[in-house]
Amino acid sequence: MKTVGKKFPKRVMRKASLQGKTVLLRADYNVPFENGVITDDYRIRASVPTVQKLLEYGCKVVIISHRGRPKGPESTEFSLEPIALRLSELLGQSVRFVDDCVGPKVRMAVKRAPAHGVVVLENLRFYAEEKANDPEFAARLAKDSGASYFVQDGFGVVHRAHASTSAITMYLPSVAGLLLEREYQAITGAMSHPKRPLLALMGGAKVSDKIPIIKRLIRVADQIIIGGAMANTFLAHRGHNVGASKVEPDQTAVIDDIYDLVHKKVGAEMADNFLVLPTDVAVGAHVDETARRRTVPVTQIPEGNYALDIGDASIERVVAAIDRSQTIIWNGTLGMTEFPHFAHGSARAALALAEHPEKESIIGGGDTAGFVIQWDSRHGESFSHVSTGGGASLELMAGQKLPGIEALLDA
Ligand code: ADP
Ligand code: 3PG
Ligand code: MG
Repeated sequence: MKTVGKKFPKRVMRKASLQGKTVLLRADYNVPFENGVITDDYRIRASVPTVQKLLEYGCKVVIISHRGRPKGPESTEFSLEPIALRLSELLGQSVRFVDDCVGPKVRMAVKRAPAHGVVVLENLRFYAEEKANDPEFAARLAKDSGASYFVQDGFGVVHRAHASTSAITMYLPSVAGLLLEREYQAITGAMSHPKRPLLALMGGAKVSDKIPIIKRLIRVADQIIIGGAMANTFLAHRGHNVGASKVEPDQTAVIDDIYDLVHKKVGAEMADNFLVLPTDVAVGAHVDETARRRTVPVTQIPEGNYALDIGDASIERVVAAIDRSQTIIWNGTLGMTEFPHFAHGSARAALALAEHPEKESIIGGGDTAGFVIQWDSRHGESFSHVSTGGGASLELMAGQKLPGIEALLDA
């Protein structure tokens, strides 16, 4: 389903005169690798429409990104070279890689690049100045790239105030790329004027990671279903014995606070229908892929066992709730999806959403997005929106201001 969201406030590509210009494009190519091989290229794919649109405009496209958290240029394992190669495959054209992001090599490569040429520069975080939001470094990025426009399309990193997300906008006229615009519209649209009923599925590792988004969802959602390790923390708070399960201690005050908000919204009697905890969980005797799945009621979690997924009855409740809803916002896996036996809850939720393209489904969070894409034969296309942002999508969903977006508005 097409998202009818808020429009990106002002500065977007189609309103700028980019034709024939050299453009500095910030992408978020911080993608997962294993043994030097990209294991999930979703973020690279998601940037392709923007690159193609700029090429259609006859631009020279100079792309910058970070990858990982390197100590410095000696952390060569964080090079963007393999990403340039993957981008070239996806674009079906050659992409020039430069092993620095400022300096004479960059100036020369851009000068030599033809119109419709794509140049990928080396990891921005090889310079400490990037994270420091250093204005002189931003000025060098702008100058050495020879660009006359800056396009911000690294949605996954706009929650950081870095040189390439913030300071850079002081040196070049700056606009949002197509991906940033789409992310902004989908997420703010679902949060601010959703088709109702709006169901929120919240899971993942920690309550403490997601307090602002839970609080916002209490205001805007019609129902919230909790799963994942987060559910264990709620169950423990309710006095259940959760065995050896992962729980977060010290969240008592936070959960009390959450229930206060729920009581204010729906009253104490309806609280458990609004904020729904699992009634059963799938436990394992140990935490690894050989652990057998066994579903037990939440009142009977065996001593020493780990609740690693929501149980079968709880899964049916999730599926039924998806059926009743028009908009579903999902953040955080419902179980330990790293192990297939404990991925049932998340897989059934993903399939239920994929089967209903008429429903608005907005999926955010690094692990959750990675999981649903793996489960979808159409690379995530079956859902209305799978966010490329981890922290950025959480913060935008929570209604927070993101420095990389604010900088575009101020520029
Ligand atoms: P996202 O990245 O989508 O925001 P999180 O990082 O919060 O999601 O949560 C995903 C992580 O939570 C996964 O590594 C998963 O193994 C873990 N997790 C989910 N449910 C459980 C559980 N019941 N016990 C232990 N870990 C869990
Ligand atoms: C992400 O993957 O969340 C972004 O690329 C930001 O990376 P960071 O958390 O290292 O700033
Ligand atoms: Mg995560």
